[in-house]
Amino acid sequence: MKKITKICCIGAGYVGGPTMSVIANKCPHIAVTVVDINEDRIAQWNTPNLDNLPIYEPGLKEIIRESRGKNLFFSTDVDKAIDEAQMIFISVNTPTKTYGKGKGQAADLKFVELCARNIAKVAKEDKIVVEKSTLPVRTAEAIKNILDHTGNGVVFEILSNPEFLAEGTAIDDLLNADRVLIGGDDTPAGKAAKNALSDIYENWLPKERILQTNVWSSELSKLVANAFLAQRVSSINSISALCEKTDANIAEISRAIGFDSRIGPKFLNASVGFGGSCFQKDILNLVYIARSFGLKEVADYWEQVIIMNDYQKRRFADHIIQSLYNTVSGKKIVLYGWAFKKDTNDTRESAAIHIADALMDERAEIVVYDPKVSEERIYADLDYLETRTPDENRTLLKVVSNPMEASREAHGIAVVTEWDEFKSYDWTKIYELMLKPAFIFDGRRILDTQNMRQIGFNYYKIGEA
Ligand code: NAD
Ligand code: UDX
Repeated sequence: MKKITKICCIGAGYVGGPTMSVIANKCPHIAVTVVDINEDRIAQWNTPNLDNLPIYEPGLKEIIRESRGKNLFFSTDVDKAIDEAQMIFISVNTPTKTYGKGKGQAADLKFVELCARNIAKVAKEDKIVVEKSTLPVRTAEAIKNILDHTGNGVVFEILSNPEFLAEGTAIDDLLNADRVLIGGDDTPAGKAAKNALSDIYENWLPKERILQTNVWSSELSKLVANAFLAQRVSSINSISALCEKTDANIAEISRAIGFDSRIGPKFLNASVGFGGSCFQKDILNLVYIARSFGLKEVADYWEQVIIMNDYQKRRFADHIIQSLYNTVSGKKIVLYGWAFKKDTNDTRESAAIHIADALMDERAEIVVYDPKVSEERIYADLDYLETRTPDENRTLLKVVSNPMEASREAHGIAVVTEWDEFKSYDWTKIYELMLKPAFIFDGRRILDTQNMRQIGFNYYKIGEA
Protein backbone atom coordinates (compact mmCIF):
# COMPACT_ATOMS: atom_id res chain seq x y z
CA MET A 1 0.00 0.00 0.00
CA LYS A 2 1.22 3.49 -0.90
CA LYS A 3 2.13 5.82 1.97
CA ILE A 4 -0.68 8.18 2.83
CA THR A 5 0.16 11.77 1.88
CA LYS A 6 -3.31 13.27 1.43
CA ILE A 7 -6.23 12.98 3.80
CA CYS A 8 -9.70 14.41 3.51
CA CYS A 9 -12.18 14.66 6.37
CA ILE A 10 -15.87 15.22 5.63
CA GLY A 11 -17.44 17.15 8.53
CA ALA A 12 -15.73 20.10 10.23
CA GLY A 13 -17.45 19.75 13.60
CA TYR A 14 -16.41 19.09 17.20
CA VAL A 15 -14.70 15.87 16.12
CA GLY A 16 -13.50 16.56 12.56
CA GLY A 17 -11.95 19.95 13.40
CA PRO A 18 -9.81 19.03 16.44
CA THR A 19 -8.95 15.50 15.24
CA MET A 20 -7.68 16.63 11.87
CA SER A 21 -5.84 19.60 13.39
CA VAL A 22 -3.89 17.22 15.61
CA ILE A 23 -3.19 14.77 12.76
CA ALA A 24 -1.91 17.64 10.58
CA ASN A 25 0.16 19.00 13.45
CA LYS A 26 1.79 15.65 14.19
CA CYS A 27 2.19 14.57 10.54
CA PRO A 28 3.75 17.44 8.60
CA HIS A 29 4.25 15.08 5.66
CA ILE A 30 0.48 14.66 5.20
CA ALA A 31 -1.80 17.30 3.68
CA VAL A 32 -5.10 17.33 5.57
CA THR A 33 -8.20 18.98 4.11
CA VAL A 34 -11.33 19.28 6.24
CA VAL A 35 -14.47 19.90 4.22
CA ASP A 36 -18.03 20.78 5.13
CA ILE A 37 -21.19 21.80 3.31
CA ASN A 38 -21.79 24.48 5.96
CA GLU A 39 -20.12 27.55 4.45
CA ASP A 40 -20.32 29.61 7.64
CA ARG A 41 -18.55 26.91 9.61
CA ILE A 42 -15.71 26.68 7.09
CA ALA A 43 -15.41 30.49 7.05
CA GLN A 44 -15.10 30.39 10.85
CA TRP A 45 -12.37 27.72 10.66
CA ASN A 46 -10.52 30.02 8.26
CA THR A 47 -10.97 33.11 10.43
CA PRO A 48 -7.81 35.23 10.82
CA ASN A 49 -8.80 35.92 14.45
CA LEU A 50 -8.32 32.59 16.21
CA ASP A 51 -10.69 33.64 19.00
CA ASN A 52 -13.50 33.28 16.46
CA LEU A 53 -13.04 29.59 15.65
CA PRO A 54 -16.41 27.78 15.51
CA ILE A 55 -15.66 25.68 18.56
CA TYR A 56 -13.97 26.51 21.83
CA GLU A 57 -11.41 23.93 23.00
CA PRO A 58 -8.41 24.67 25.21
CA GLY A 59 -5.21 24.32 23.14
CA LEU A 60 -7.00 24.22 19.78
CA LYS A 61 -6.10 27.68 18.54
CA GLU A 62 -2.40 27.14 19.19
CA ILE A 63 -2.45 23.99 17.04
CA ILE A 64 -4.42 25.71 14.29
CA ARG A 65 -1.99 28.63 14.34
CA GLU A 66 0.93 26.25 13.73
CA SER A 67 -0.62 24.10 11.00
CA ARG A 68 -3.33 25.99 9.14
CA GLY A 69 -2.27 27.02 5.64
CA LYS A 70 0.80 24.72 5.81
CA ASN A 71 -0.67 21.22 5.71
CA LEU A 72 -4.09 21.86 7.24
CA PHE A 73 -6.86 23.31 5.09
CA PHE A 74 -10.57 23.99 5.57
CA SER A 75 -12.72 24.09 2.46
CA THR A 76 -16.23 23.77 1.07
CA ASP A 77 -14.97 22.06 -2.07
CA VAL A 78 -15.96 18.56 -0.95
CA ASP A 79 -15.57 16.85 -4.35
CA LYS A 80 -12.04 18.13 -4.95
CA ALA A 81 -10.87 17.01 -1.51
CA ILE A 82 -12.41 13.54 -1.98
CA ASP A 83 -10.86 13.21 -5.42
CA GLU A 84 -7.34 14.07 -4.22
CA ALA A 85 -7.25 12.08 -0.96
CA GLN A 86 -6.02 8.51 -0.51
CA MET A 87 -7.80 8.29 2.83
CA ILE A 88 -11.20 9.83 3.59
CA PHE A 89 -12.60 10.23 7.11
CA ILE A 90 -16.36 10.53 7.51
CA SER A 91 -16.95 12.70 10.57
CA VAL A 92 -20.45 14.00 10.03
CA ASN A 93 -23.21 14.17 12.62
CA THR A 94 -25.27 11.07 13.40
CA PRO A 95 -28.12 12.45 15.52
CA THR A 96 -31.03 10.49 16.94
CA LYS A 97 -33.76 10.04 14.32
CA THR A 98 -36.62 12.51 14.68
CA TYR A 99 -38.95 10.80 12.21
CA GLY A 100 -40.08 7.43 10.86
CA LYS A 101 -38.93 3.99 12.03
CA GLY A 102 -36.71 4.19 15.09
CA LYS A 103 -37.79 7.79 15.80
CA GLY A 104 -36.35 8.97 19.12
CA GLN A 105 -33.84 6.10 19.37
CA ALA A 106 -32.08 4.94 16.21
CA ALA A 107 -29.17 6.91 14.75
CA ASP A 108 -30.05 8.95 11.69
CA LEU A 109 -27.57 7.83 9.05
CA LYS A 110 -28.72 10.08 6.23
CA PHE A 111 -25.65 12.34 6.45
CA VAL A 112 -23.30 9.35 6.44
CA GLU A 113 -25.10 7.82 3.48
CA LEU A 114 -24.87 11.11 1.57
CA CYS A 115 -21.12 11.11 2.17
CA ALA A 116 -20.81 7.54 0.91
CA ARG A 117 -22.77 8.39 -2.21
CA ASN A 118 -20.64 11.46 -2.79
CA ILE A 119 -17.42 9.46 -2.44
CA ALA A 120 -18.81 6.84 -4.83
CA LYS A 121 -19.65 9.55 -7.37
CA VAL A 122 -16.31 11.35 -7.23
CA ALA A 123 -13.65 8.65 -6.63
CA LYS A 124 -11.60 7.61 -9.62
CA GLU A 125 -8.88 5.76 -7.68
CA ASP A 126 -8.81 3.20 -4.83
CA LYS A 127 -9.42 4.75 -1.41
CA ILE A 128 -9.55 3.94 2.27
CA VAL A 129 -12.76 5.22 3.84
CA VAL A 130 -12.66 5.66 7.61
CA GLU A 131 -15.81 5.87 9.74
CA LYS A 132 -14.94 8.45 12.38
CA SER A 133 -18.57 9.22 13.21
CA THR A 134 -20.20 7.05 15.88
CA LEU A 135 -22.29 4.51 14.01
CA PRO A 136 -24.50 1.54 14.78
CA VAL A 137 -22.92 -1.87 14.45
CA ARG A 138 -22.77 -3.10 10.84
CA THR A 139 -22.89 0.37 9.25
CA ALA A 140 -19.57 -0.23 7.51
CA GLU A 141 -21.33 -2.98 5.59
CA ALA A 142 -23.97 -0.52 4.38
CA ILE A 143 -21.33 2.01 3.37
CA LYS A 144 -19.41 -0.69 1.51
CA ASN A 145 -22.56 -1.69 -0.32
CA ILE A 146 -23.08 1.83 -1.60
CA LEU A 147 -19.43 2.25 -2.53
CA ASP A 148 -19.16 -1.11 -4.28
CA HIS A 149 -21.92 -0.23 -6.70
CA THR A 150 -20.37 2.84 -8.24
CA GLY A 151 -19.77 1.10 -11.51
CA ASN A 152 -16.33 2.65 -12.05
CA GLY A 153 -14.30 -0.25 -10.63
CA VAL A 154 -12.68 1.62 -7.76
CA VAL A 155 -11.75 -0.53 -4.71
CA PHE A 156 -12.64 0.81 -1.26
CA GLU A 157 -11.44 -0.47 2.09
CA ILE A 158 -13.75 0.56 4.93
CA LEU A 159 -12.34 1.04 8.41
CA SER A 160 -14.04 1.90 11.67
CA ASN A 161 -12.01 4.32 13.78
CA PRO A 162 -14.35 5.74 16.44
CA GLU A 163 -13.29 8.85 18.31
CA PHE A 164 -13.03 8.83 22.09
CA LEU A 165 -12.19 12.48 22.75
CA ALA A 166 -14.26 14.36 25.31
CA GLU A 167 -15.10 18.01 24.71
CA GLY A 168 -13.23 20.51 26.83
CA THR A 169 -10.19 18.20 26.87
CA ALA A 170 -10.23 17.22 23.18
CA ILE A 171 -6.67 18.26 22.34
CA ASP A 172 -5.15 16.55 25.33
CA ASP A 173 -7.29 13.46 24.72
CA LEU A 174 -6.08 13.32 21.12
CA LEU A 175 -2.42 13.92 21.96
CA ASN A 176 -2.42 11.37 24.81
CA ALA A 177 -5.17 8.96 23.76
CA ASP A 178 -5.65 5.99 26.12
CA ARG A 179 -6.17 3.95 22.98
CA VAL A 180 -7.00 4.23 19.32
CA LEU A 181 -9.35 1.65 17.91
CA ILE A 182 -9.11 0.53 14.29
CA GLY A 183 -11.61 -1.98 12.97
CA GLY A 184 -11.35 -3.51 9.52
CA ASP A 185 -11.45 -6.69 7.47
CA ASP A 186 -8.95 -9.45 8.10
CA THR A 187 -8.19 -9.83 4.40
CA PRO A 188 -4.70 -8.82 3.19
CA ALA A 189 -6.14 -5.57 1.80
CA GLY A 190 -8.06 -4.94 5.03
CA LYS A 191 -4.94 -5.51 7.14
CA ALA A 192 -2.92 -3.19 4.90
CA ALA A 193 -5.54 -0.47 5.31
CA LYS A 194 -5.55 -0.89 9.11
CA ASN A 195 -1.77 -0.63 9.13
CA ALA A 196 -1.86 2.49 6.96
CA LEU A 197 -4.14 4.20 9.48
CA SER A 198 -2.09 2.87 12.39
CA ASP A 199 1.04 4.40 10.78
CA ILE A 200 -0.59 7.83 11.02
CA TYR A 201 -1.32 7.54 14.75
CA GLU A 202 2.14 6.05 15.39
CA ASN A 203 3.57 9.47 14.57
CA TRP A 204 2.76 10.43 18.15
CA LEU A 205 1.25 7.47 20.00
CA PRO A 206 2.95 4.24 21.13
CA LYS A 207 1.98 1.27 18.97
CA GLU A 208 0.69 -0.73 21.97
CA ARG A 209 -2.14 1.77 22.38
CA ILE A 210 -3.40 1.23 18.85
CA LEU A 211 -5.84 -1.67 18.93
CA GLN A 212 -6.94 -3.51 15.83
CA THR A 213 -10.25 -5.41 15.80
CA ASN A 214 -12.83 -6.55 13.34
CA VAL A 215 -15.04 -3.78 12.06
CA TRP A 216 -18.15 -4.71 14.05
CA SER A 217 -16.34 -4.94 17.39
CA SER A 218 -14.93 -1.49 16.75
CA GLU A 219 -18.34 0.01 15.93
CA LEU A 220 -19.98 -1.59 18.95
CA SER A 221 -17.11 -0.76 21.35
CA LYS A 222 -17.76 2.94 20.84
CA LEU A 223 -21.42 2.66 21.86
CA VAL A 224 -20.47 0.44 24.80
CA ALA A 225 -17.73 2.81 26.05
CA ASN A 226 -20.19 5.71 26.15
CA ALA A 227 -22.89 3.54 27.75
CA PHE A 228 -20.49 2.47 30.53
CA LEU A 229 -19.35 6.04 31.19
CA ALA A 230 -22.89 7.39 31.28
CA GLN A 231 -23.93 4.51 33.50
CA ARG A 232 -21.34 5.59 36.08
CA VAL A 233 -22.77 9.10 36.13
CA SER A 234 -26.34 7.82 36.48
CA SER A 235 -25.23 5.40 39.20
CA ILE A 236 -23.60 8.09 41.31
CA ASN A 237 -26.49 10.49 40.64
CA SER A 238 -28.98 7.89 41.86
CA ILE A 239 -27.00 7.64 45.09
CA SER A 240 -26.88 11.45 45.39
CA ALA A 241 -30.67 11.40 45.82
CA LEU A 242 -30.31 8.84 48.59
CA CYS A 243 -27.58 10.90 50.29
CA GLU A 244 -29.87 13.91 50.46
CA LYS A 245 -32.34 11.83 52.48
CA THR A 246 -29.81 10.23 54.81
CA ASP A 247 -27.00 12.57 55.91
CA ALA A 248 -24.51 10.53 53.89
CA ASN A 249 -22.30 12.70 51.71
CA ILE A 250 -21.91 11.86 48.01
CA ALA A 251 -18.31 13.17 47.85
CA GLU A 252 -17.31 10.88 50.69
CA ILE A 253 -19.01 7.96 48.97
CA SER A 254 -17.33 8.67 45.61
CA ARG A 255 -13.99 8.81 47.39
CA ALA A 256 -14.62 5.67 49.40
CA ILE A 257 -15.70 3.55 46.46
CA GLY A 258 -13.19 5.14 44.06
CA PHE A 259 -10.29 3.94 46.18
CA ASP A 260 -11.21 0.39 45.17
CA SER A 261 -8.86 -0.11 42.24
CA ARG A 262 -11.52 -2.17 40.48
CA ILE A 263 -13.90 0.80 40.54
CA GLY A 264 -11.39 3.67 40.17
CA PRO A 265 -11.88 7.34 41.07
CA LYS A 266 -12.87 8.89 37.72
CA PHE A 267 -16.36 9.79 36.50
CA LEU A 268 -17.94 9.66 39.96
CA ASN A 269 -18.97 13.31 40.27
CA ALA A 270 -22.63 13.75 41.11
CA SER A 271 -24.19 16.45 38.95
CA VAL A 272 -27.36 17.93 37.49
CA GLY A 273 -27.24 15.08 34.99
CA PHE A 274 -25.07 14.30 32.02
CA GLY A 275 -25.45 16.19 28.76
CA GLY A 276 -23.50 16.39 25.54
CA SER A 277 -24.09 15.18 22.04
CA CYS A 278 -23.00 11.60 22.67
CA PHE A 279 -24.17 9.84 25.84
CA GLN A 280 -27.92 10.00 25.36
CA LYS A 281 -27.78 9.51 21.61
CA ASP A 282 -25.45 6.52 21.79
CA ILE A 283 -27.33 4.77 24.59
CA LEU A 284 -30.64 5.25 22.78
CA ASN A 285 -29.01 3.75 19.74
CA LEU A 286 -27.74 0.79 21.79
CA VAL A 287 -31.23 0.32 23.23
CA TYR A 288 -32.71 0.41 19.75
CA ILE A 289 -30.23 -2.13 18.40
CA ALA A 290 -30.79 -4.50 21.36
CA ARG A 291 -34.56 -4.21 21.00
CA SER A 292 -34.42 -4.80 17.27
CA PHE A 293 -32.64 -8.11 17.97
CA GLY A 294 -35.38 -9.04 20.46
CA LEU A 295 -33.12 -8.52 23.49
CA LYS A 296 -35.72 -6.80 25.68
CA GLU A 297 -33.87 -7.19 29.00
CA VAL A 298 -30.68 -5.79 27.51
CA ALA A 299 -32.56 -2.82 26.06
CA ASP A 300 -34.43 -2.13 29.31
CA TYR A 301 -31.22 -2.33 31.33
CA TRP A 302 -29.46 0.41 29.34
CA GLU A 303 -32.57 2.54 28.96
CA GLN A 304 -32.62 2.92 32.72
CA VAL A 305 -29.42 4.99 32.49
CA ILE A 306 -31.36 7.62 30.52
CA ILE A 307 -34.41 7.40 32.78
CA MET A 308 -32.19 8.07 35.81
CA ASN A 309 -30.57 11.03 34.04
CA ASP A 310 -33.95 12.58 33.23
CA TYR A 311 -34.95 12.05 36.86
CA GLN A 312 -31.84 13.87 38.08
CA LYS A 313 -32.49 16.95 35.92
CA ARG A 314 -36.15 17.05 36.97
CA ARG A 315 -35.25 16.50 40.62
CA PHE A 316 -32.89 19.49 40.58
CA ALA A 317 -35.53 21.80 39.06
CA ASP A 318 -38.16 20.51 41.52
CA HIS A 319 -35.82 21.15 44.42
CA ILE A 320 -35.43 24.79 43.34
CA ILE A 321 -39.21 25.22 43.13
CA GLN A 322 -39.83 23.58 46.53
CA SER A 323 -37.09 25.60 48.23
CA LEU A 324 -38.53 28.86 46.92
CA TYR A 325 -41.75 28.16 48.84
CA ASN A 326 -43.33 26.11 46.07
CA THR A 327 -43.68 29.00 43.69
CA VAL A 328 -41.16 30.58 41.36
CA SER A 329 -43.71 32.56 39.37
CA GLY A 330 -42.26 36.02 38.70
CA LYS A 331 -39.12 35.19 40.69
CA LYS A 332 -35.71 35.92 39.26
CA ILE A 333 -33.52 32.81 39.08
CA VAL A 334 -30.03 33.08 37.65
CA LEU A 335 -28.38 30.15 35.90
CA TYR A 336 -24.61 30.19 36.05
CA GLY A 337 -23.64 28.15 33.01
CA TRP A 338 -25.44 26.77 29.98
CA ALA A 339 -22.79 24.54 28.33
CA PHE A 340 -23.12 20.81 29.06
CA LYS A 341 -19.74 20.88 30.85
CA LYS A 342 -16.94 23.37 31.40
CA ASP A 343 -14.40 24.41 28.76
CA THR A 344 -16.70 23.97 25.79
CA ASN A 345 -19.24 26.16 24.01
CA ASP A 346 -21.27 23.06 23.11
CA THR A 347 -24.77 22.96 24.58
CA ARG A 348 -26.22 19.85 22.98
CA GLU A 349 -28.41 17.98 25.50
CA SER A 350 -27.15 20.26 28.28
CA ALA A 351 -29.02 19.76 31.56
CA ALA A 352 -29.35 23.56 31.73
CA ILE A 353 -31.84 23.55 28.86
CA HIS A 354 -34.22 21.20 30.65
CA ILE A 355 -33.83 22.90 34.02
CA ALA A 356 -34.58 26.31 32.49
CA ASP A 357 -37.54 24.85 30.64
CA ALA A 358 -39.02 23.32 33.81
CA LEU A 359 -38.61 26.60 35.72
CA MET A 360 -40.09 28.60 32.85
CA ASP A 361 -43.12 26.29 32.92
CA GLU A 362 -43.62 27.66 36.43
CA ARG A 363 -43.30 31.21 35.08
CA ALA A 364 -39.92 31.93 36.66
CA GLU A 365 -37.88 34.79 35.20
CA ILE A 366 -34.62 33.21 34.15
CA VAL A 367 -31.33 35.03 33.65
CA VAL A 368 -28.46 33.08 32.09
CA TYR A 369 -24.77 33.78 32.19
CA ASP A 370 -22.27 31.49 30.42
CA PRO A 371 -18.72 32.59 29.58
CA LYS A 372 -18.61 30.87 26.17
CA VAL A 373 -22.15 30.26 24.94
CA SER A 374 -23.81 32.87 22.73
CA GLU A 375 -27.27 34.35 23.31
CA GLU A 376 -28.32 33.12 19.89
CA ARG A 377 -27.40 29.52 20.83
CA ILE A 378 -29.30 29.67 24.13
CA TYR A 379 -32.51 30.85 22.46
CA ALA A 380 -32.07 28.28 19.66
CA ASP A 381 -31.82 25.51 22.31
CA LEU A 382 -35.05 26.65 23.94
CA ASP A 383 -36.93 27.22 20.71
CA TYR A 384 -35.95 23.70 19.59
CA LEU A 385 -37.95 22.23 22.50
CA GLU A 386 -41.12 23.90 21.15
CA THR A 387 -42.48 24.17 24.70
CA ARG A 388 -43.55 27.76 24.07
CA THR A 389 -43.27 30.38 21.34
CA PRO A 390 -39.92 32.03 20.57
CA ASP A 391 -41.41 35.33 21.83
CA GLU A 392 -42.37 33.76 25.16
CA ASN A 393 -38.88 32.29 25.50
CA ARG A 394 -37.36 35.74 24.99
CA THR A 395 -39.73 37.29 27.50
CA LEU A 396 -39.14 34.73 30.23
CA LEU A 397 -35.40 34.25 29.77
CA LYS A 398 -32.67 36.87 29.40
CA VAL A 399 -29.03 36.28 28.57
CA VAL A 400 -26.45 38.53 30.20
CA SER A 401 -22.71 39.06 29.99
CA ASN A 402 -22.09 40.31 33.53
CA PRO A 403 -22.43 37.54 36.15
CA MET A 404 -22.28 39.87 39.16
CA GLU A 405 -24.91 42.25 37.82
CA ALA A 406 -27.10 39.21 37.01
CA SER A 407 -27.38 38.41 40.70
CA ARG A 408 -28.96 41.77 41.60
CA GLU A 409 -32.35 41.19 43.24
CA ALA A 410 -32.30 37.50 42.34
CA HIS A 411 -34.15 35.02 44.54
CA GLY A 412 -31.83 32.18 43.65
CA ILE A 413 -28.75 31.20 41.67
CA ALA A 414 -28.32 27.73 40.21
CA VAL A 415 -24.85 26.55 39.20
CA VAL A 416 -25.44 24.21 36.29
CA THR A 417 -22.04 24.14 34.57
CA GLU A 418 -18.79 23.73 36.52
CA TRP A 419 -16.86 26.66 34.94
CA ASP A 420 -13.77 27.37 37.08
CA GLU A 421 -14.48 31.11 37.17
CA PHE A 422 -17.61 30.55 39.27
CA LYS A 423 -15.41 29.41 42.17
CA SER A 424 -13.49 32.68 42.31
CA TYR A 425 -16.47 35.05 42.30
CA ASP A 426 -16.93 37.47 45.18
CA TRP A 427 -19.81 35.53 46.75
CA THR A 428 -20.12 38.00 49.63
CA LYS A 429 -20.86 40.72 47.11
CA ILE A 430 -23.31 38.45 45.29
CA TYR A 431 -25.07 37.80 48.60
CA GLU A 432 -25.42 41.53 49.18
CA LEU A 433 -26.93 42.05 45.75
CA MET A 434 -29.50 39.25 46.04
CA LEU A 435 -32.93 39.30 47.69
CA LYS A 436 -33.03 37.63 51.11
CA PRO A 437 -33.24 34.84 51.94
CA ALA A 438 -30.70 34.20 49.18
CA PHE A 439 -30.64 30.69 47.72
CA ILE A 440 -27.79 28.93 45.93
CA PHE A 441 -28.42 25.61 44.20
CA ASP A 442 -25.08 24.03 43.42
CA GLY A 443 -25.73 21.37 40.79
CA ARG A 444 -22.00 20.86 40.21
CA ARG A 445 -20.71 20.78 43.77
CA ILE A 446 -18.03 23.39 43.09
CA LEU A 447 -18.58 25.80 45.99
CA ASP A 448 -17.51 25.43 49.60
CA THR A 449 -20.47 24.53 51.81
CA GLN A 450 -19.13 26.06 55.02
CA ASN A 451 -18.08 29.29 53.34
CA MET A 452 -21.39 29.73 51.55
CA ARG A 453 -23.38 29.13 54.74
CA GLN A 454 -21.14 31.51 56.68
CA ILE A 455 -21.84 34.26 54.15
CA GLY A 456 -25.52 33.73 54.87
CA PHE A 457 -26.73 31.78 51.87
CA ASN A 458 -29.36 29.11 51.94
CA TYR A 459 -26.98 26.73 50.24
CA TYR A 460 -27.96 23.43 48.60
CA LYS A 461 -25.34 21.13 47.14
CA ILE A 462 -26.48 18.16 45.12
CA GLY A 463 -25.86 14.94 47.05
CA GLU A 464 -25.78 16.50 50.53
CA ALA A 465 -28.57 16.80 53.05
P1 NAD B 1 -21.01 18.27 14.46
O1 NAD B 1 -22.45 18.45 14.26
O2 NAD B 1 -20.24 19.21 15.32
O3 NAD B 1 -20.27 18.28 13.02
C1 NAD B 1 -20.70 17.56 11.91
C2 NAD B 1 -20.45 18.39 10.64
O4 NAD B 1 -20.72 17.57 9.50
C3 NAD B 1 -21.35 19.62 10.51
O5 NAD B 1 -20.55 20.78 10.43
C4 NAD B 1 -22.14 19.36 9.22
O6 NAD B 1 -22.38 20.54 8.46
C5 NAD B 1 -21.23 18.41 8.47
N1 NAD B 1 -21.90 17.61 7.44
C6 NAD B 1 -23.07 16.91 7.56
N2 NAD B 1 -23.33 16.28 6.40
C7 NAD B 1 -22.34 16.59 5.53
C8 NAD B 1 -22.06 16.23 4.18
N3 NAD B 1 -22.87 15.40 3.49
N4 NAD B 1 -20.95 16.73 3.59
C9 NAD B 1 -20.12 17.57 4.28
N5 NAD B 1 -20.33 17.92 5.58
C10 NAD B 1 -21.42 17.44 6.19
O7 NAD B 1 -20.80 16.78 14.96
P2 NAD B 1 -19.63 16.21 15.91
O8 NAD B 1 -19.91 16.54 17.33
O9 NAD B 1 -18.31 16.56 15.31
O10 NAD B 1 -19.87 14.64 15.76
C11 NAD B 1 -19.53 13.95 14.57
C12 NAD B 1 -19.60 12.46 14.84
O11 NAD B 1 -18.60 12.11 15.83
C13 NAD B 1 -20.92 11.97 15.41
O12 NAD B 1 -21.18 10.68 14.89
C14 NAD B 1 -20.66 11.88 16.90
O13 NAD B 1 -21.48 10.92 17.52
C15 NAD B 1 -19.22 11.46 16.95
N6 NAD B 1 -18.49 11.85 18.16
C16 NAD B 1 -18.67 13.08 18.72
C17 NAD B 1 -17.94 13.45 19.84
C18 NAD B 1 -18.10 14.80 20.47
O14 NAD B 1 -17.57 15.00 21.55
N7 NAD B 1 -18.79 15.73 19.88
C19 NAD B 1 -17.00 12.56 20.39
C20 NAD B 1 -16.84 11.31 19.80
C21 NAD B 1 -17.58 10.97 18.68
C1 UDX C 1 -18.13 11.72 26.06
C2 UDX C 1 -17.06 10.64 26.31
O1 UDX C 1 -16.39 10.91 27.54
C3 UDX C 1 -16.06 10.62 25.17
O2 UDX C 1 -15.13 9.56 25.36
C4 UDX C 1 -16.81 10.42 23.86
O3 UDX C 1 -15.90 10.43 22.77
C5 UDX C 1 -17.87 11.50 23.68
O4 UDX C 1 -18.76 11.49 24.81
P1 UDX C 1 -18.24 14.36 26.32
O5 UDX C 1 -19.71 14.15 26.18
O6 UDX C 1 -17.58 15.35 25.45
O7 UDX C 1 -17.47 12.97 26.07
O8 UDX C 1 -17.89 14.76 27.84
P2 UDX C 1 -17.78 13.92 29.20
O9 UDX C 1 -16.61 14.44 29.93
O10 UDX C 1 -17.84 12.48 28.99
O11 UDX C 1 -19.07 14.41 30.00
C6 UDX C 1 -20.38 14.05 29.60
C7 UDX C 1 -21.38 14.58 30.58
O12 UDX C 1 -21.30 13.86 31.82
C8 UDX C 1 -21.19 16.05 30.94
O13 UDX C 1 -22.43 16.69 31.04
C9 UDX C 1 -20.51 15.99 32.28
O14 UDX C 1 -20.73 17.14 33.06
C10 UDX C 1 -21.17 14.76 32.90
N1 UDX C 1 -20.37 14.13 33.95
C11 UDX C 1 -19.18 13.56 33.65
C12 UDX C 1 -20.86 14.09 35.24
O15 UDX C 1 -21.96 14.59 35.52
N2 UDX C 1 -20.12 13.48 36.22
C13 UDX C 1 -18.91 12.90 35.96
O16 UDX C 1 -18.30 12.37 36.90
C14 UDX C 1 -18.42 12.95 34.64
